[in-house]
Amino acid sequence: MISETNEWKRLLAHATAVQGTHLRQLLKDEARNAALVAEHNGITLDYSRQNATLETIDLLFDLAEKAQLRQKLSSIASGEHVNKTEDRAVMHMALRSPANKPMYVDGRNVVEDVHEVLTSIRKFSDRVRSGEAHGATGKKLVNVISIGIGGSYLGPEYVFEALKHEKVAKAAAEGRTLRFLANVDPVDAARAVEGLNPEDTLVVVVSKTFTTAETMLNARTLRKWLVDGLAAKGVSQADAVRHHMIAVSAAVPKAQEFGIAPENVFGFWDWVGGRYSVCSAVGIVPLALHYGSDITDSFLAGAHDVDQHLLNAPLRENLPVLLGLLGVWNSSFLGHTSRALLPYAQGLLRFAAHIQQVDMESNGKRVNVEGVTLPFAAGEINFGEPGTNGQHSFYQLIHQGRVVPCDFIAFCKSQTPVELQGEKVSNHDELMSNFFAQPDALANGKTIEELTAEGVSESLRPHKMFPGNRPSISLLFHGHLNAFACGQLLALYEHRTVVQGAIWGLNSFDQWGVELGKVLATQVRNQLNASRTKKAEISGFNSSTTALLKLYLA
Ligand code: F6P
Repeated sequence: MISETNEWKRLLAHATAVQGTHLRQLLKDEARNAALVAEHNGITLDYSRQNATLETIDLLFDLAEKAQLRQKLSSIASGEHVNKTEDRAVMHMALRSPANKPMYVDGRNVVEDVHEVLTSIRKFSDRVRSGEAHGATGKKLVNVISIGIGGSYLGPEYVFEALKHEKVAKAAAEGRTLRFLANVDPVDAARAVEGLNPEDTLVVVVSKTFTTAETMLNARTLRKWLVDGLAAKGVSQADAVRHHMIAVSAAVPKAQEFGIAPENVFGFWDWVGGRYSVCSAVGIVPLALHYGSDITDSFLAGAHDVDQHLLNAPLRENLPVLLGLLGVWNSSFLGHTSRALLPYAQGLLRFAAHIQQVDMESNGKRVNVEGVTLPFAAGEINFGEPGTNGQHSFYQLIHQGRVVPCDFIAFCKSQTPVELQGEKVSNHDELMSNFFAQPDALANGKTIEELTAEGVSESLRPHKMFPGNRPSISLLFHGHLNAFACGQLLALYEHRTVVQGAIWGLNSFDQWGVELGKVLATQVRNQLNASRTKKAEISGFNSSTTALLKLYLA
């Protein structure tokens, strides 16, 4: 257990010492500040606003060595079955590996398989986008609804939103729409189809297992919408499904059983975890249909760029390794249970939602890989919103309430630059003024003495005082948010999670914690069915649930 090692214990003792020095003080040391910066291919990570000294960083790298981080990353890349509870390899890096860089799982070069699927996605999406593949009544399929949940939804939506207003991607998507349907709430289905015509709509059912209850019900719901809508135009049920429904799944036979033609099913593999699957057909099918394959290729290249950096850069210059170690530092040694993801880029409005799943489903665990209970809490509560919106929402708490380590993320250039005559700065400069100001406000705070000097009344001083000493990182991309940067950002955060899990010694690739709720939902579903069809008495639940079910059924 990592927490029993001397490296861990040294960090525990060191944390007490570091906590005595305010960030305001630490930031006065220019040599320290300069040392706590790392760069990789157009990305600068400044971690000088962490409650950390140079010694902290040394101790964290000792811990990384003790946890055999490098070896663990190599085991992943070499296709070992590191997801032990499911006996699977973890190879999402192979999804973005160029064709000439083989990666092996059980002796098989899976990059070949990946590129076979990518080629068929390119061909298919080109045909749909050109109108060569069309709907049952001959109309061009300009609308796509992607049905899926969790990892089969959040990553693709993150990328879709990120590129919506990027010049090249936007031009490529001209005249097309892409919508997502995730929630089993029938309102989500109603919203997904609102204003759309089945004749020019293609539905993509995305599910690794092809058994997820919500996705399957939504797939049947939209199949009915397509079939009914097209029947009015004289189209048979079989033709409606053949022309208007495709699937993405690692369970290809199940998709075929649903009625989707084999040539319309894009596969992926059990070595791709759901939350790490956006670079597989899960993301690439809907995104290539919408933006075209040149954009998705560039996205994959960005992710690959950071994969190479992870595997080859020295650990001390390695951005995802630094991010992961700082996550461990903040949560395991400084006791911060959450972290905020604060992109100063409106395109990243679904980034936090995606990383919530990547990180919390991966590292929200209570035992190590051997099944031994961890004597410390693993995982972090991730949340966030784009700045500056978040500033007018929850920043009050992060400035004066609880300490929440923050990730400030921004781009030197805007996707849609605006300069208004008569304004002091461009609109992007205005956004960025906040990106630069907030980390210092959190770090430095404002003292009673400063307030006194400003003439603030004694009674108001405690209310206006900011304790400061609140850690953050600043991640600044040198260009604008394009497909390549979107891929880089994705990989940075995927790897951060993996690094943290590796240090804690847990399995970041299974998700047994989602099972119990699913089983109980089945029990409730059966009860609702029996009560409604056979007037069966409610049984098998505690008195609280029984009373609530009675109320609902009545
Ligand atoms: O909620 C659990 C989960 O299994 C996630 O891990 C996964 O991303 C999601 O459900 C969807 O699963 P599938 O792609 O098999 O429909």
